[in-house]
Amino acid sequence: MTIQLSKRTEKIPESVFTAMSRLAIENKAVNLGQGFPDFNGPDWLIEEVYKAMKEGKNQYAPSIGILTLRKNISALYKSIYDIDWSYDNEVIITMGATEALYSSIHSVVDEGDEVIIFEPFYDSYMYDVLLAGGIPKLITLHKPDFSFDFEEFENAITNKTKVIILNNPQNPTGKVYTKKELDFISDIAIKNDLIIISDEVYEFLTYDNVNHIPISTIPGMKERTITISSAGKTFGFTGWKIGWACANKDFIRGIHSVRQWTTFAVNTPCQHAVAFGLTKIMEYLPDFRKLYLQKRDFIIQELKDSLFSPIIPLGSYFIMVNIPENKNDMELAIELVKDYKVATIPPSVFYSNSDEGKSMLRLCFAKQDETLKNGIKNLKAYKL
Ligand SMILES: Cc1ncc(COP(=O)(O)O)c(C=O)c1O
Repeated sequence: MTIQLSKRTEKIPESVFTAMSRLAIENKAVNLGQGFPDFNGPDWLIEEVYKAMKEGKNQYAPSIGILTLRKNISALYKSIYDIDWSYDNEVIITMGATEALYSSIHSVVDEGDEVIIFEPFYDSYMYDVLLAGGIPKLITLHKPDFSFDFEEFENAITNKTKVIILNNPQNPTGKVYTKKELDFISDIAIKNDLIIISDEVYEFLTYDNVNHIPISTIPGMKERTITISSAGKTFGFTGWKIGWACANKDFIRGIHSVRQWTTFAVNTPCQHAVAFGLTKIMEYLPDFRKLYLQKRDFIIQELKDSLFSPIIPLGSYFIMVNIPENKNDMELAIELVKDYKVATIPPSVFYSNSDEGKSMLRLCFAKQDETLKNGIKNLKAYKL
């Protein structure tokens, strides 16, 4: 039989993460590519999963998510950002931020709608939009501070534009959007009646006294913004896949319509554990932030006398490094994994318009100190 996949599916290439992780294993390389911690989150939270399971919380959860988790998310955002999301109908629990993104995009993007995406982008935005039949319109964030041209952004808006996807703090650059940038994006969104899908999974990972500002807190933006986050990043359990979206009840209804026929409901015991975790988050966050700050500073310091000059990230657990001028990211990433036993991510795959990605590599510092030391040692061994 000739297997003919759908035209939509054929548009989707193998993810660079899958390819690089396979190469890392084949070459027994230290993996600084893969974007998740190689260490456990807190034990006390694991205990909560056991507890929930022992208490019999093992059947399907309500499709919108368990009440305590929705209540605790709503209370958390009220306390830290002074924003009101009704746990009744403005919060939905999803299978990680990934499902929240997929369902949000599918519930608002029609065939032919244009969607503004900043590049380098977290790759699921691009493929979610393409799967929904939307047309991605890319705006480049330029080195070294990954700022964008306001005029180019404004000119990219047409009468077909429906959505802007924002990722703040940003993967892969570690950029945190400034208030001025957020105000500008908000102005344009209001003027053109656009929807914002704001992926804020790294909301608690900012450095150097930079504060995260959810775009939904800017006047006029709450009603038009779907804010997405995830416990995976905050508690270091990416495999639990507990995420959420907060938005106006009509958006939540749309997201719920898609989710009914994809996942229907999310892992029950992990929802209970995360609900408990959120009640302890203020005690938990200072050490969490300190841990990642130390890792960021360690990698910046160590790379100073290497051929890979770091671009200091203000958020997330990623860092972009410049590579030697005559090199290209893809070839170098393959050379590094094969000959120097260190896996990185070639970021040109996160660009569609610009060539800037070819001049950098992305590293992830959500790694044990030992992994970081070994990975950096291998990077430093690289000489021209
Ligand atoms: C920017 C961004 N959004 C979403 C996700 C996916 O989050 P989750 O694991 O909660 O689905 C990731 C994971 O790396 C990410 O970096």
